[in-house]
Amino acid sequence: MKKLKTQTVSFGLTALVSLSGCISSEKNRTPARENKSVGCGTLNYPADSAENGFVVLDVLQPTKLSRNSNKVIQPLMCPEDQAKVKELDLKPYNPLFKFVEDQQTVAKKTKNRNRQKIKEEPWVGENLDVTNIQDAEKLAKILQRYIFEGWFDADKTQGKTQYDSHFRSNSLRTWCNTPWLNVTEKGREAIHGLTKEFPIRSTHVYTVPRDVEMTEDAVTWGISFFNKPVCGEYANFFNEKNAMLPTITDMRPQFKSPDGGLAFKLLFNTMPDWQNQMRGQWTSSSQDLKAYNWWTHVSHARQDDGKTAHDESIRELSNVALVQIDISLKDSRLKGTNPLLKNWIMLTYYFDPNFKNEYLADMNIPEPLKYMRPVGLQYGLGAGESHIFNGSRNNHLIKRLPLGDSLPPELDRYATRLNGPVDNIQGSCLGCHAAAGLRFNVGPMTKTSKHPPMTFLSNQDYVAFLKDMKKHPGITGDFDFNMQLDKAMRNFVNRNRPKEQKLEEAPK
Ligand code: HEC
Repeated sequence: MKKLKTQTVSFGLTALVSLSGCISSEKNRTPARENKSVGCGTLNYPADSAENGFVVLDVLQPTKLSRNSNKVIQPLMCPEDQAKVKELDLKPYNPLFKFVEDQQTVAKKTKNRNRQKIKEEPWVGENLDVTNIQDAEKLAKILQRYIFEGWFDADKTQGKTQYDSHFRSNSLRTWCNTPWLNVTEKGREAIHGLTKEFPIRSTHVYTVPRDVEMTEDAVTWGISFFNKPVCGEYANFFNEKNAMLPTITDMRPQFKSPDGGLAFKLLFNTMPDWQNQMRGQWTSSSQDLKAYNWWTHVSHARQDDGKTAHDESIRELSNVALVQIDISLKDSRLKGTNPLLKNWIMLTYYFDPNFKNEYLADMNIPEPLKYMRPVGLQYGLGAGESHIFNGSRNNHLIKRLPLGDSLPPELDRYATRLNGPVDNIQGSCLGCHAAAGLRFNVGPMTKTSKHPPMTFLSNQDYVAFLKDMKKHPGITGDFDFNMQLDKAMRNFVNRNRPKEQKLEEAPK
């Protein structure tokens, strides 16, 4: 692998970005709109030239690049969409890049927690064993509370109905976002900082109307938050003076999450008329309950069909539905976690209008969030090392069952691995995340590996792969199951490369 020039590496807020930011929305993509007035034109999302991963390129107002720069980033958004943003009083995404909060803020949050009798790490000291399904279900609910707490203070409405004001700051705990997810057409959007992920199709969990599957509408965008232990490590990892830089240059970066490191991801679907198209699935049949939703500036085009003329970089203001929440947690203090997998466990939740989580009933949170159903918990790579909770649907390939059928519990233990509604049906959460650091460099995935390219389906596979990697030092890194870092660092090494030399994402 070719070495990068160390002197071009920069994590600070001083580098240049491409300033060619303006695009048109799909509904307005007509020749008449080709004038390149501010806010709307035919230019693509400024994909390739950002050299600073801390700057959001999709802005609502012309924004100075940095305090010391006279360069200005222009909005990408069309005037009609800008007007709608005003009408809806939407605020711009303000990234949580303050990895270590000041003492005053920390003290205030501690005080708030104490007053409400909320623990910093509520899953610790509960004597839970993740290999036990009852304990796993309890843990799933404890973690659900944990990730919902503290985000809704700015919303003074009864029932917390101002959804777009949520998940912006937290009054109880420190949370942060990952830098370097700003570039490419998948880069952070203007209002909530979502990044683009996979399309959604009919699976064991949802039935997507055929015509929607055929068009390019059913694409997911998401945002992930990391808790205080991870943020502390991010502070070191993204520190300009840290030893991490040469390790990136040599393609052998290491990132280690501390015990208690947790991430959660909110995953939204961009299907335009989701209220009707997914009636009964993302709404109750009577429509009086709807999935939690946000206004966002996103594209609809799929990443993986390549056959259509649709352009991934064309964004428009869209209302998107929260369909899935994912959680990853590393904690050796939890009984039953596997040191081989660095004590990671994974859990997923999906919106189900027919399920209400009574454990959350007393929480002052938006009503639809109480309908996020815990699917299960995965603590190992092999079949039999995932729990699927009673009544929920998993999305792992099971040949004996037709699509849409729920799994009989007795099948779960031996035939399935936990997997989310939008994930590759043949994979699993831990199986894919174990590759974080490998996909950062496409080489090991395609040339040297005799192992599955996207996912590990057994502990043996994983161990053998790690052994192989030891024989080929300097061609990959280890991001400790953190997939956003894998993606972020691929963006980072690509930042100065011409298109033909960019590392591509591994196929899903
Ligand atoms: C096919 C591979 C794949 C599978 C399967 C998968 N993930 Fe991920 N996951 C990713 C990628 C890639 C990202 C980064 C995406 C982004 O932010 O754009 C990610 C991000 C995340 C994050 C944010 C923190 C981080 O590590 O980046 C969480 C939490 C997460 N996934 C949990 C899960 C859970 C739970 C499941 C199973 C229900 C799952 N994932 C299945 C690939 C996968």
